[in-house]
Amino acid sequence: MENLELKQVKKVFGSGSNQVTALAGINFQAKAGEVTLILGPSGSGKSTLLTILGGLQQPSAGEVLVNGQKLNELTGPAADQFRLNHIGFILQAHNLVPHLTVQDQFTLVDKVKTAGNLPAATFDQYLGQLGIQDLLPKFPQDLSGGQSQRVAIARALYANPDFILADEPTAALDSQRVTEVGKLFQKIAQQEQKAVVIVTHDLRLKANADKIYQLIDGQIKEVSE
Ligand SMILES: Nc1ncnc2c1ncn2[C@@H]1O[C@H](COP(=O)(O)OP(=O)(O)O)[C@@H](O)[C@H]1O
Ligand SMILES: [Mg+2]
Repeated sequence: MENLELKQVKKVFGSGSNQVTALAGINFQAKAGEVTLILGPSGSGKSTLLTILGGLQQPSAGEVLVNGQKLNELTGPAADQFRLNHIGFILQAHNLVPHLTVQDQFTLVDKVKTAGNLPAATFDQYLGQLGIQDLLPKFPQDLSGGQSQRVAIARALYANPDFILADEPTAALDSQRVTEVGKLFQKIAQQEQKAVVIVTHDLRLKANADKIYQLIDGQIKEVSE
């Protein structure tokens, strides 16, 4: 069973009077088959938590465990390979390549990660559910914020990662789209046994979450409902 775990994770930025404790000792686990939602106001440490969880930055203290193995023991190319093959990031800046069409954003994934990406039929289904099939010939500059957000979601899903880590993935979406995206994340978690972790202040995603946590001032707690 795939899982990602934080143990006593702390993250401190800066030093002296500029010191900021972004994460103050986080214990947290995300499991395959579940959508885990971490809610919190701006500045509460959501993006810091998500990037540490996916190995994009290192904690100041504590451990990140993937299926019980320490992620911070992986460095250099091994860490890059791990992220490439197992983690799908949906980041706030959608990071689409400006001079590539939407279709070619996905073709690029095939070039970087040559095996294990989604079969065409499955991916078509996801494109339909995200409502972006008609956008394939367009360039990022011709997309609305919501469209580019949905393309970024599709790109992360296309690589078929075990762990899908999303930072405010619905900020630019209207409520109907939020429901669609929430349902898609939950379907993928359940049917494909993926672990989906979403950090957000968007309460609309609660409807499709299996576990809900609250992050306040770098401290996390599980909330019921
Ligand atoms: N690279 C950084 N350097 C200095 N401070 C940072 C850095 N990244 C985040 N912080 C600080 O850590 C705290 C949490 O930030 P962040 O994780 O971005 O919160 P959120 O995503 O919930 O808005 C904030 O006070 C922020 O200013
Ligand atoms: Mg953030």
